Amino acid sequence: MGFLKRILLLALLSAPQIGFADDRLVQIFVPTSLIETGLMRHLLPRFSLKTQVRVEMISDPAKADLVFGNNGRTVFEGAGQVWKIDRRSPDNKSAIKFYDWLTSDIGQRTVVSFAPDGAALFGLPGATSEVRTTVEFDGDAAVGHDVALKKCTRCHAVDDKTHWSSIGSTPSFGVLRSLTDWKERFSMFYVLKPHATFTQIAEVTQPFPDNLPPPIAPIELTFNEVEAVVAYVAMMPAADLGKPLEHQ
Ligand code: HEC
Repeated sequence: MGFLKRILLLALLSAPQIGFADDRLVQIFVPTSLIETGLMRHLLPRFSLKTQVRVEMISDPAKADLVFGNNGRTVFEGAGQVWKIDRRSPDNKSAIKFYDWLTSDIGQRTVVSFAPDGAALFGLPGATSEVRTTVEFDGDAAVGHDVALKKCTRCHAVDDKTHWSSIGSTPSFGVLRSLTDWKERFSMFYVLKPHATFTQIAEVTQPFPDNLPPPIAPIELTFNEVEAVVAYVAMMPAADLGKPLEHQ
């Protein structure tokens, strides 16, 4: 089966596992002037993809878990004002996740990376120039390098120093990086052969079936670690192969 077909099939098969559970919902109130900027269309899918928590914008602030406006913690500025976020239901786990994400480094960088016409529309109050305005990958490349060294070198050569660890025909990260669809492959490696039988991603994959225990010592990653590995691979040089390698 071709790679694309395989990835599609696997995506379908694994869809129920990564789908949204009913309790993973946060309801937020966003003033119209903020909605109209398009920022929420940029933020919400990125948050949901990362956390599997769905965000619903509702029109009644009194019923919302989180309210954007003039109260609470300052989160960004733009569209003519400083925006704060107010927590209305401090015990709702999904609301805590959203609040924590938005106020984290990654959430803040996601805000500044919103630049529909090439220029960032929102900034961080008192932001320093260290905040990068274009961020393609959410993960932390340095963390990703560490994770890969710890969890992938059993079979893959990850960088120049780990050439020894490549077993048999296992492709090195440099070779995989040279494939045009490297990003899909690294983002979903845990459902691609041979990893599915021995890899667990916290809160994403199902436990191994009782009748099919992992054949080798399993590797376990969090979703953040997968993103970090993707960010690391994004910045590593592709192996110079003369021409792109066709890896089936
Ligand atoms: C126990 C050995 C083993 C470990 C550990 C392992 N891999 Fe692999 N990986 C393989 C083999 C073997 C292949 C080649 C599969 C093939 O050619 O079909 C592969 C292929 C891949 C591919 C390409 C998949 C495809 O179908 O194109 C990616 C991406 C990948 N590995 C990422 C990782 C990452 C990231 C880690 C660490 C978190 C990791 N692997 C850990 C054995 C391993």
